[in-house]
Amino acid sequence: MTTVKATNITWHSTHVDRTDRERLLRQKGCTIWFTGLPSSGKSTTAFTLEHELISLGYLAYVLDGDNVRHGLNKNLGFSAADREENIRRIGEVAKLFADAGILTMTSFISPYRRERDLAREIHGEAGLLFVEVFVDTPIEICEERDPKGLYQKARRGELKGFTGIDDPYEPPLNPELVVKTGEYSPEIITAQILSYLVRNDFLVVDEKNACVERINTLNQQNAIHNSDQKCHR
Ligand code: ADX
Repeated sequence: MTTVKATNITWHSTHVDRTDRERLLRQKGCTIWFTGLPSSGKSTTAFTLEHELISLGYLAYVLDGDNVRHGLNKNLGFSAADREENIRRIGEVAKLFADAGILTMTSFISPYRRERDLAREIHGEAGLLFVEVFVDTPIEICEERDPKGLYQKARRGELKGFTGIDDPYEPPLNPELVVKTGEYSPEIITAQILSYLVRNDFLVVDEKNACVERINTLNQQNAIHNSDQKCHR
């Protein structure tokens, strides 16, 4: 639980409201929350989606676990309490970014359901959209990828409390989206998330339907290799 120490503070209302910013940006500020095991493909997916959104003319930004731990959260480790605080701060920062009108992506293991639900709750209270994306990659695949060699270190006992090995990961019970990086390419997954955003009116799609065209192209590019793996949901 966070101890509240801030007293004698007053909320200041701004002169511009969120709808003014959203009209300016032709999009609805929101948070797309990626959660999953280490090496499940959260950052790859988020960065691929960010690139697509920017190319399509939307303002998107990724708050990435490893990157944020180089600055804002450099004073936090990997105990349960520190992971909770890590996610609490990111929930708050994402909320501010989303309020600014940005398509905000967070790419953190965020292993505990309770903290993810709290992040969802503060977005809901502020009237902001929140999309939980479960990067559902089996641990065997994550461990095989192991780009940072951390699974190996954890297996050798040189790294204690590693998520998935000797620290818990609680999968979401009711995420808006489930993506399978072990089965589908980043392009197919990007198309899957983009179609969700378009279908739920997060993006203002112009007459040329640039987004829809792009989704079709991404799906077609993959059709050669994955003829039966069309994006869905
Ligand atoms: S979280 O659990 O608090 O959400 P976060 O996503 O910020 O974690 O950071 C995960 C990154 O920290 C991993 O990509 C990995 O590089 C690094 N890391 C270092 N120690 C651990 C550990 N014990 N468990 C998981 N990740 C760790």
